Amino acid sequence: MRAWSRIARAAGERVGFVPTMGYLHEGHLSLMREAKRRADLCVVSIYVNPTQFGPKEDFSKYPRDFERDRKLCESVGVDAIFAPTNEEMYPAGAATTWVEETAVSERWEGMSRPGHFRGVCTVVAKLFNCVLPDVACFGQKDAQQCAVLRRMVRDLNFPLEFVVCPTVREPDGLAMSSRNVYLSPTERQEALALKQSLDLARRELAAGRTIDEVSAAMTKLITSKPSARIDYIAFVDSETLLPVNRYEPGRLLVAMAVFVGKTRLIDNMVL
Ligand code: PAF
Repeated sequence: MRAWSRIARAAGERVGFVPTMGYLHEGHLSLMREAKRRADLCVVSIYVNPTQFGPKEDFSKYPRDFERDRKLCESVGVDAIFAPTNEEMYPAGAATTWVEETAVSERWEGMSRPGHFRGVCTVVAKLFNCVLPDVACFGQKDAQQCAVLRRMVRDLNFPLEFVVCPTVREPDGLAMSSRNVYLSPTERQEALALKQSLDLARRELAAGRTIDEVSAAMTKLITSKPSARIDYIAFVDSETLLPVNRYEPGRLLVAMAVFVGKTRLIDNMVL
């Protein structure tokens, strides 16, 4: 992979990169199109990274279909797929060297999923070392991941442009996610409560309601769905992920994680 990138870069071509865990959907494809707009070549990695899953999480059942992913990459004109094995990504076996961001990672996803961001930062740093990208594109759906990785790129002087692209949604508003395949038809319907509650937040904040009032209204909407259980609803600064208690347009990130049945979904909106 590195030799391929070095040849491209020596020929003056910019390498765009989209890291993924596969089971690609339109959200991933929009990142690939953006990488192609910003660079001459587009590399997609497909790797379900074991170190970012907790012991009780869905690593073993995470959906995988390389042939389907390969065709989708081809359909948008991806130049190379990097699909390493565990032995290639973790050549010394269990890692004893980690990349850990210690502020933006602390709360929300970091609290609910201990070790998750350490696994994400470590594998993304390793992928950057393999792919040598000039531009890397990530999806806003994982808002905290974007904030953590943006910080890692600054802190560690990675020589690349870090790009965040908008969340892509199904026509009815559900944020696209590889994990949506876990939902039963009823859960799929009830999962619309996430986006509906974010729309409610936008309306209510614009109408002058306080964050406490808006949070209560969102909670009521989500918990009216029998299969939904809130993990967190966070009103935070979009860069630091620290809680805010006043609405400052443009900086306020409303982020949430909700279990719908056994499936944990996340969504967010910058207001
Ligand atoms: O967002 C993801 O799919 C993963 O966290 C990433 C960035 C590919 C790292 O494994």
